[in-house]
This record gives sequence, C-alpha cells and structure tokens, in this order.
Amino acid sequence: MTLKNISRRSALKFGGATLALATAGGFLGTATVAADARGTMALRIPALDAGQMVDGVRVFDLTVQNGKTEFFEGFDTDTLGINGSYLGPVLRMTAGDTVRMNVNNTLREKTTLHWHGLNIPAVADGGPHQEIEPGAAWSPEFKIVNKASTMWYHSHQLSRTADQVWAGLAGMIFIDDAEADALDLPSDYGVDDIPVVLQDRSFRRNGQMPYEPSMHSLMMGMTGDIAMVNGTIAPFFEVTTSLVRLRLLNGSNGSIYTLAFDDNREFDQIASDGGLLAAPARVGSVRLGPGERAEIVVDMSSGRNVMLVSVPSSDGNGRGMMARMMDSDPVFDFLELRPAATLAKSPALPQQLADLPAVSDGTAVKTRSFELQMSGMGMFSNFSINGKSMKMNRVDEVINMGEDEVWEITNLSPMAHPFHVHNTQFRILDRNGEAPVGGEVGLKDTVVVNPEERVRILIRFDHYSDPKHPYMYHCHILEHEDAGMMGQFTVV
Ligand code: C2O
Ligand code: CU
Ligand code: CU
Repeated sequence: MTLKNISRRSALKFGGATLALATAGGFLGTATVAADARGTMALRIPALDAGQMVDGVRVFDLTVQNGKTEFFEGFDTDTLGINGSYLGPVLRMTAGDTVRMNVNNTLREKTTLHWHGLNIPAVADGGPHQEIEPGAAWSPEFKIVNKASTMWYHSHQLSRTADQVWAGLAGMIFIDDAEADALDLPSDYGVDDIPVVLQDRSFRRNGQMPYEPSMHSLMMGMTGDIAMVNGTIAPFFEVTTSLVRLRLLNGSNGSIYTLAFDDNREFDQIASDGGLLAAPARVGSVRLGPGERAEIVVDMSSGRNVMLVSVPSSDGNGRGMMARMMDSDPVFDFLELRPAATLAKSPALPQQLADLPAVSDGTAVKTRSFELQMSGMGMFSNFSINGKSMKMNRVDEVINMGEDEVWEITNLSPMAHPFHVHNTQFRILDRNGEAPVGGEVGLKDTVVVNPEERVRILIRFDHYSDPKHPYMYHCHILEHEDAGMMGQFTVV
C-alpha cells in the first residue's frame, strides 16, 4: 500500500504501526494506513454473552452507552457501544429459546436496537417504531424460531441509523441449533469460530471519527478509508487449527465488499444470512453488501500467512459502464490470518450441511414489484422505493401470512442497493433471469441489487402476524435508509 495524493501528513501510532493522517485531495481528515501496517494488532474478539436463564427465559442485559475507544495508541476516540465502548458482545442463543432483551439507553438521544435477520413479533423488532428515550429501558421478549445462523443487531433510529451505527451501535448474534451442533463444524468461539465485523471508518488528525458525510457520501453511501475488524485496525489473528471458520458481517454504512484472500486461495462458504447452505460452496470470493453475512471455512494447513482483503468486484456484475465508474467496490486489507507453527487437525468439513428445499416461483400466489430509484444531487437527492420515500404513518404493503410471494426488485438507479426485508428469510430465484450461485442459493434477508438488474426472490412470512405494527423493507446503505429508501409492511 502506498501513500498517495498527500500534501501534508502527521503520524499516529497504533500497535507499533504508523497511521498517516493526511490532507488528501482537498478532503480534510482522510487517512491512509502506511505500508508497515500489515497485521499489527491482535484482533479484538468481542465478549461472548449467553445471557442468564431466569425462569426458563434467556435474559440479556444490554446497555447502550457512550464510550472512548483507543483505535490508535494514545488517542481516545469518542464512540458508542453496547456493554462496551465500541460495538457490542456476541449474543449467543439457541433455536427454541425464549429470550428477553433488557435494553437500557444511557445516551442523551433516542435510539433503538433491531435484531436483524430474526423472525420476530413486530413490537419486538426494534425498528423505528420501538424508540427508546434517553434514560429509558425497553424489554422485548420473543421466541427464537430461526435456524442456526449468524445474525446481528444495530440501531434503527429513524434518520439517525447511519450516524449511530458509524459510532458503534452494532453487534453480532449467534444462533445454535441441534442440526448444526451435530455437524462438527469449527465452533470453539475465539479459537476456530471467529466473529468478523467488517467496517470502514475515517479519522481526523485528532483521532476522532465524527460522522460527517460529504454530499458524495450521502449519495453513494458513507465509506471511510481505514478498514477495521471488530473495531481493530490492521488486525492479525493467530490460527491454531487447520480449519478456521470466519463469520463475516458487512457492518459498514455504505460499502460493498468483494472479499477474497490475497493469495487467491479458494475457501468454503457454509452459511448465508439465514443459516447453513445445503453443502459447502467452494468459492474464490464472496460479495457482501451492508447487512449481509457469510460464514466461511478457510484451510490454513499450508502454514502460510494470508490476508483477507476486499477487491474491486471482478465482472462488473452485469453493470453498464456508467454504473461501474460510479460504483466500484473499495479495496482494503482487512485481517491477516497467521497460522501457528503447529496446527491442531480439524475434523473434515461435512459435505452435507442443512436441508434446503429447492425453490421455484410455481408456489407463489402473488407478485409484488419494488423499484429502487434515486434522483437529484446532494441535498436535493431523493431516494425512493416505488416512487415513495419512507413515511412512519403509511403502510405500503399488506401481506398475508403463510403465502409464498414473488418479489421483483428492480434497480433503476446507477448504483447497487442491498435490499433488506425484516421478519423473514427469503430465497433468491434469479438475477436478470440467471439462477443464483455460491452462497446466494441459501437463506437470505438482504440481497444486493445491481444497476440494470431485476432480482426475483421467493418470500413468505410464517410467523408473527400483526395488522397494526409494521415491519420495514429498505436499502441497507444506511445513508439511503436514513434518506427514506424504506417502506413498511404488515403481516395479517
Ligand atoms: Cu439491518 Cu432494517 O435492518
Ligand atoms: Cu433488519
Ligand atoms: Cu441504496
């Protein structure tokens, strides 16, 4: 990596490496990691929180708080976190559990916590209708009906989601079930089963990372120039087993990452957003938009160090020239994996994982269309779905519980949008008529819809009807969501 376009620089130290904070290309406060930054800090592993069993209910105590985080040695950065200064613990629960989330808001502003990916009662969803006032608490209780999977939680405060998530209000959820437990997958937390929250941030020279999106960022989604994993900049992880499972979450505001390894090794994707695939998918890269997850298993038995990187998406994903110019995935070094001198031999990866029925549009009783649009520029930009921007008192779709539907999501804008739906896991039928490949065959709650693309999904809501309290569907680029690229539906 080289320093480029830098007219002035000062250096900050982190973990023995140097961060040059520079005035680059006229933008104040952009930062570039210097060449010696490769794997200099041990990866932070978030605390694992399995809650407390109280009268048969798994109870989690979550405090949303202000904090200071030392991303760079000697610099306290103002951040937000859950039970900590930045991000939150990994919440671990089992399918069939009844859980209660005691959320305490100690901030001086309103917030929410949304349980992304879970099938959940509307009043427990933690969307914009479940605001928690400053100093107040919120204690939703619900049953876990999802399968073994990697989900996450984050602020969903109306018009403030981007700002609050940027500052740190997000964490992961691991759901276990008997089917997955029987598989002998790497599952020793922090040893061979690793949470990997991928984000990018920008810092000022004083070490602060205020949320200050430019006009361009409000349009395209906020992207920083410093990559971090679990809040660690330039991290390494020492691997002690021949196979390591990485639970990847794109927790960024507005970046789509095409993730790969710098030696081009292939790896196995074992799970998508909603749980295990039918069988491991052998891939060379996986592309995740904000909100999407993928669990991958990497073979480390060669004993060589390898860097998890993000690269420009290879094929343009069917995009036209204009779109490619506006919208190329950012390039980062995320996480260096360093195998120990001797590696414990992991059990072989099972060739069959979960039951995943084939899907077709033949079972659908209804088709709905969602057109994603953006128009105008800067302050005057407008983000809409079916020509409408989010209104709290308008329900856009009313859906019958238990019926298969096809949703056609058409991107009429020049950039990609990750389309997310609450309270369900859906399946991708096709992208511009092409069947999904790799991890996209699995359970999904978020799908990247590229420019000039129409993605068809098979969707159904099997749990938790509520005619009054709506759920959200929206673009998961948080700047777009906050600007109104969101709609509401009820399940009846
Ligand atoms: Cu990740 Cu509506 O949320
Ligand atoms: Cu969600
Ligand atoms: Cu968008």
